[in-house]
Amino acid sequence: MSIFKEYYHEKYGLKTLESTYGFICYNIKEETCFIGEIFVKPERRGDNRGSVLADEIANRAKEAGCKFLTCTVQLAGKEPERSLVAIIKYGFKITDVVGTGLYLTKEL
Ligand SMILES: CC(C)(COP(=O)(O)OP(=O)(O)OC[C@H]1O[C@@H](n2cnc3c(N)ncnc32)[C@H](O)[C@@H]1OP(=O)(O)O)[C@@H](O)C(=O)NCCC(=O)NCCS
Repeated sequence: MSIFKEYYHEKYGLKTLESTYGFICYNIKEETCFIGEIFVKPERRGDNRGSVLADEIANRAKEAGCKFLTCTVQLAGKEPERSLVAIIKYGFKITDVVGTGLYLTKEL
């Protein structure tokens, strides 16, 4: 297990799937799979790598009986528009806005 994976699990309770070009952190709870982080190396972005990571987590979530994927985007973060484009193209819909935080859900 990588040190990052170990750290993230200890601190936030999320599991991490790592590949050579990025990683995705998630937590399955009852009908919902929350995606806490997703990262693709800058030189590999825009080539569906993020979608491949998300697909793998969606498959795991479905196998575990989940009905929804959820995630959040902080509008106060760095370049939120870039990640929002990818997240919305992937099929997430905005379900709530609290302050500068967007809450998004995708049906599985
Ligand atoms: C968000 C992130 C993981 C997306 O990864 P990615 O590999 O570039 O995403 P994909 O290529 O799978 O994107 C899916 C779709 O969005 C499009 N897309 C992705 N980034 C885009 C951008 N900046 N502008 C326009 N379209 C974009 C892709 O072309 C693709 O469209 P298509 O299905 O029509 O071909 C990546 O940009 C990243 O690591 N960002 C930094 C970390 C971050 O902000 N994480 C999210 C926190 S909420």
